[in-house]
Amino acid sequence: MGASGGALPPGRYAYDAVRHRVHRRGPAPAGPPDGTLVVLTVNARRTVSHYGHRALPLLLLDAGHAVAALVSAGAAGMTLAADGALLSAAAGLPGPARWQDAWPGTTPQHPLAAVAIGPDGGDPGAALARWAACPPGEAPQPEPGAEAASPALGRTWRALDAAASAAGPGGWTTPTARTPDSTLLSRRSAPPPLSGAPSPEDLAQVLARAAGALPAGPRWCVATGGAHPGLLHLAPDGSGRAHRPVLHRLASGDARPTLAAWAAGQGWIAEAGAVLLAYGCPEDADAPGIRRDHLTAGHSVGLAQLTAAELNLTSRPVGSWQRADLGAALGGPAGRDWIVHGLALGRGDQP
Ligand SMILES: Cc1cc2nc3c(=O)[nH]c(=O)nc-3n(C[C@H](O)[C@H](O)[C@H](O)COP(=O)(O)O)c2cc1C
Repeated sequence: MGASGGALPPGRYAYDAVRHRVHRRGPAPAGPPDGTLVVLTVNARRTVSHYGHRALPLLLLDAGHAVAALVSAGAAGMTLAADGALLSAAAGLPGPARWQDAWPGTTPQHPLAAVAIGPDGGDPGAALARWAACPPGEAPQPEPGAEAASPALGRTWRALDAAASAAGPGGWTTPTARTPDSTLLSRRSAPPPLSGAPSPEDLAQVLARAAGALPAGPRWCVATGGAHPGLLHLAPDGSGRAHRPVLHRLASGDARPTLAAWAAGQGWIAEAGAVLLAYGCPEDADAPGIRRDHLTAGHSVGLAQLTAAELNLTSRPVGSWQRADLGAALGGPAGRDWIVHGLALGRGDQP
């Protein structure tokens, strides 16, 4: 993580999420690149102790949401696919293979993404390489028990190592329009129930924000109830006249009760006004593919949640999917189209 300009002198700074503070990790390269480069890493320990073997997708989705929050605040570029060793070096961290030797008694952090904040038109890939060439930062104080790992934590660390390995520096994407500060500051996940069906126009806008966020990644649809329950997706209107895709029916019938069962039995989902769904990530996906689909889904749902807030809809992400084989339920082959992420939606004007 680097910073130059602003209130902090140039250098590497680490954010401590528990204490909500930054502390200096080390110096910047001589003549540091302009702007700030943020490397997002995950510390899997607390998530695994809460969710066990279900922690991996949640860690990836959460990281995607964090990227969405940063890019919505005006980032100039982001990468969800850069090699983990490169990201670790840029953040001044030991790579996973050297962690215990270099920083004994500390919990490994796994890098997943990077975001460049200002200036527009800079070269964030070059900035990442400059930071990566800088010597590693100072080791934090060892913590008692930091090296102890349950079998589930050890498996999650290995899966994160595998997910972060990539062939190269990863492509950089220039984020689309920034979100007004007032929306960023007021966005909250609504507590259930999320009552009231959003209008088709609003659903189309939320779907379009999610589906259009990045060129690759999962596919998208929305489950609705009401008089004509079904699954809707965006597709060309067929007339050749419309410039924008429009809502089309993918399937009929109320999917929400099944979604509630698949989401670890969260019954309130069966009553939600609508549920946006990201699906894909086949069961034979390799580790980088799992990373890509989940980071993309988290990022895109993060942006879709901001669109929902702008439309005065209530919303709540849903990440606890278990054996949610949407493709097979729609009559396709098994194991190809798993639900990766969701966003329950309601009408903000409902009691
Ligand atoms: C990746 C992800 C998965 C989530 N999964 C669930 C879920 O399965 N059930 C639920 O009730 N809330 C879920 N949430 C909502 C969080 O509990 C909520 O975002 C968190 O309490 C923070 O509140 P905020 O969104 O208002 O900042 C999820 C949030 C994220 C980012």
